[in-house]
Amino acid sequence: MSVPTHWFVASDPDVYEKFMARWSARLADPFLTFAGIQTGQRVLDVGCGTGTITLALAERGCSVVGIDASASYLEGARRRRSHAAITYELGDAQNLAYPSGSFDACVSTLAIDVVPEPKKFLITHELQPISGADRA
Ligand SMILES: C[S@@+](CC[C@H](N)C(=O)[O-])C[C@H]1O[C@@H](n2cnc3c(N)ncnc32)[C@H](O)[C@@H]1O
Repeated sequence: MSVPTHWFVASDPDVYEKFMARWSARLADPFLTFAGIQTGQRVLDVGCGTGTITLALAERGCSVVGIDASASYLEGARRRRSHAAITYELGDAQNLAYPSGSFDACVSTLAIDVVPEPKKFLITHELQPISGADRA
């Protein structure tokens, strides 16, 4: 499957690690605390890239699905940031097919700005309180 990612070319996960993911990793815990993510929640990480936020979620005791449009970034995520509580899936943020109630919370970092149709992104993910989570 190939998903258009607008101007952002997500091709080399190792390059991404050097220029951006290391910063995402440093922000992960403060961000997840700010978002009110709790241990035990089922969380969808949209545009998970190489899995920095995804792994931080798993390490705080969440079960996580990380979706991304880039097969190569997902390969990098599986290689660097595998965890028993994580499933990485290839998918389009503008067209998700998870049934309602599949997740307690949805997070996304540095992704909405690279999605070609952000209005679809917002509608699809309902970035509103989900099943008790105060923030998404
Ligand atoms: C700047 S990276 C952010 C990655 C990660 N969230 C982080 O904080 O390091 C943007 C990510 O959005 C993904 N992306 C772009 N368009 C997408 C789409 N339509 N559906 C899913 N993911 C998409 C890219 O493949 C890339 O991994």
